[in-house]
Amino acid sequence: MILTSISILNDNYIWILYNTNDFCIIVDPGVSEKIIKKIEEKRWKPIAILLTHNHIDHVGGVREIVKRYPNIIVFGPEETKKNGVNQVVQKGDKIKLLENEIDVFFTPGHTLGHVSYYLKPYIFCGDTLFSGGCGRVFENRFFDMYQSINFIKSLPKKTILCCSHEYTLSNLIFSMSILPFDKKIKKYYKKTKKIISKNKKSLPVTLETEKKINIFLRTKEKIIKKSMGLKISTSSFEVFVLLRKKKDIFNWS
Ligand SMILES: [Fe+2]
Ligand SMILES: [Fe+2]
Repeated sequence: MILTSISILNDNYIWILYNTNDFCIIVDPGVSEKIIKKIEEKRWKPIAILLTHNHIDHVGGVREIVKRYPNIIVFGPEETKKNGVNQVVQKGDKIKLLENEIDVFFTPGHTLGHVSYYLKPYIFCGDTLFSGGCGRVFENRFFDMYQSINFIKSLPKKTILCCSHEYTLSNLIFSMSILPFDKKIKKYYKKTKKIISKNKKSLPVTLETEKKINIFLRTKEKIIKKSMGLKISTSSFEVFVLLRKKKDIFNWS
């Protein structure tokens, strides 16, 4: 399977997987026009849509795409049911598509029913994990989010994270406000800044890289606790909650 993406709205990505026979799978189509144009251009044959969660920037294009390609199967968690889903997925499901097996992981926290799709080596993690950061926690389910991002962290290090938003630069600016002397983050910030200034994408990214530069995956580290003025006995989960709350009110512009 070959991976590609298209940019939509302000900073969203629609991820697309296609094979040598031009069959394709679309992840989180927040809009329809741009993706239909791309499909027609490439002469792809869309067979499925995978939805991670029920936010309009991820599901907004489903109905029009289904109208155009009525045989397409739309997979999504229960919360997306009213947005054109005809195959509701549950935790632990395995979807067979184009001779590939896709694992459905339950990754709540951003929304109550958020799922991620794993087609080795790719994980489509929606708004759970971003490069250099993580999604907002709605519904106050911090522990769910903490567990979800740690679950993703436990996947093989060569896993390729296909996150739904281009937030890398702002996430790294926040990280540098917490860890101003972290060389890896600084270096990655400079690299990302160059990429973005050329109008290119900072995604996808490997889990191996994220483990080094994403402070939300490093909440066990003493240096982070120290920089935040916390006791060494502060739990990794408490650090996560404090970081996420600080990020919510952080003004980077
Ligand atoms: Fe979202
Ligand atoms: Fe989103």
